[in-house]
Amino acid sequence: MTAGTPTVSALQAAARSRMLLNFTDYSAFDDRPIPMIVRGDGTDVVDDQGRHFIDGLSGLFCSNLGHAFGAEVGAAAQKQMSELVYAPSWSLTHPAAVRLAERLTDIAAPLGMERVFLTNSGGESVEAAWKLVRQWHIANGEPQRRKAIARNLAYHGTSMGALSFTGLDYCREPFMPMAVPVTFVSNTDAFRHELENDETAFTAFLLDEVEQAILAEGPDEIAMFIAEPVQNSGGSFMPPAGYWQGLRELCDRYGILLVADETITGFGRLGEWFACMRLGAKPDIITFAKGATAGHAPLGGVLMTARIAEPFASGKVTYVNGLTYSGHPLTATIALAVLDIYEREQVLENVRALEGHLASRLEELRANPLVGDVRGGGFFWAVELVTDPVTREPFTPEEADWLLREELSGHMDELGLLCRLDDRGEPVIQLSPPLVSTRETLDQIVDIVTEAVRRANESWQRHRATTGTQRSPQVA
Ligand SMILES: Cc1ncc(COP(=O)(O)O)c(C=O)c1O
Repeated sequence: MTAGTPTVSALQAAARSRMLLNFTDYSAFDDRPIPMIVRGDGTDVVDDQGRHFIDGLSGLFCSNLGHAFGAEVGAAAQKQMSELVYAPSWSLTHPAAVRLAERLTDIAAPLGMERVFLTNSGGESVEAAWKLVRQWHIANGEPQRRKAIARNLAYHGTSMGALSFTGLDYCREPFMPMAVPVTFVSNTDAFRHELENDETAFTAFLLDEVEQAILAEGPDEIAMFIAEPVQNSGGSFMPPAGYWQGLRELCDRYGILLVADETITGFGRLGEWFACMRLGAKPDIITFAKGATAGHAPLGGVLMTARIAEPFASGKVTYVNGLTYSGHPLTATIALAVLDIYEREQVLENVRALEGHLASRLEELRANPLVGDVRGGGFFWAVELVTDPVTREPFTPEEADWLLREELSGHMDELGLLCRLDDRGEPVIQLSPPLVSTRETLDQIVDIVTEAVRRANESWQRHRATTGTQRSPQVA
């Protein structure tokens, strides 16, 4: 340690006293330091104590290449920085941004996407999509289309526009009223639906609900329907067959634009560049972020079909939106280097090759009575926990808190896995490993989850036996 270099504990104290971290309950750090990750190593990250953790969530669904390619990406970034550090994207551009636009629209061409607007994040992309949608309707003589439809529990970002589409009350409540009037409909959670075992009927139910919402709100007042191809919040809700095709038909019937938020699912998470490709979905607009740079830099964007781009591309209308760092040379160069690595390392192929193995290993978890459901696709999975696999009675909020934060979190920490333990819906363990993970790494992840859930179930069953009730462990 050189003189003047702060120690890790000094940094942790400063993080406690000087930073305001995202969605962080500071009372959790009254008696322990804020965790500090100091470096990455392949598909692991390493903390200040030198402890390795498998990065089972790819950071925050973004480090799709793990932590092995930083030097290569950095070299490309350094070259760009020695040539041009900045040029705006307001009425001019620069080579890196154009090359990235070409590359992205080539990748998305099978979905009919022909043009892209670049942003810095998922939330900004959702905001930008909404502005595009509004101006598109105005250009087409329908300025009255001011409402949107989104889905329960869905997360689309926290800025005031994107927040309007986020179906999580605790995120919205302090900031009411919302910027955009939004009606929320069901997500595709089949596990808790009475039509769980009848996929065709489930699809019909969901689409009917969407249509009823359109009719109730006024078909010519709805501008946009937004959904993730596979919803993350609530735990990897795969859509039933025909769902996205049905959304397309409804949107066409009522003149509504269909937006697929691929902030998480884009760039290989489901084994394709975009999950829409796997699902046969045909949105008008795709929002993306995270995987585009695989966590090496902040970049997002909005892809659109020629039909959506037309009023702007023809010069009839100016898109009234701008970001100082839209298409920044640094982030554009990093995205290009990352896309090279995706191709060279055959990352999508890796996901497709190992998906079946991961799925069958995760299915083994059902042997544990705490496990109610295992669902997902690609490298994007959720394990839903239940008090009882037969009755499926949900945990109370206190029980879920105990299970996730008192029990499982400690076990995962001890066993060396970073994943998400989430109870924004029912309690789920969310897994989203780097897309470069080997079979061995995936096995290690599943082994850790198996052991953690085994320990948690022991505590849960012990509680049931001692209290003689079906319910409520003492929450510490
Ligand atoms: C589906 C989806 N949309 C939007 C966002 C917001 O992205 P960001 O945090 O980059 O603003 C997220 C973030 O996780 C997301 O999962």
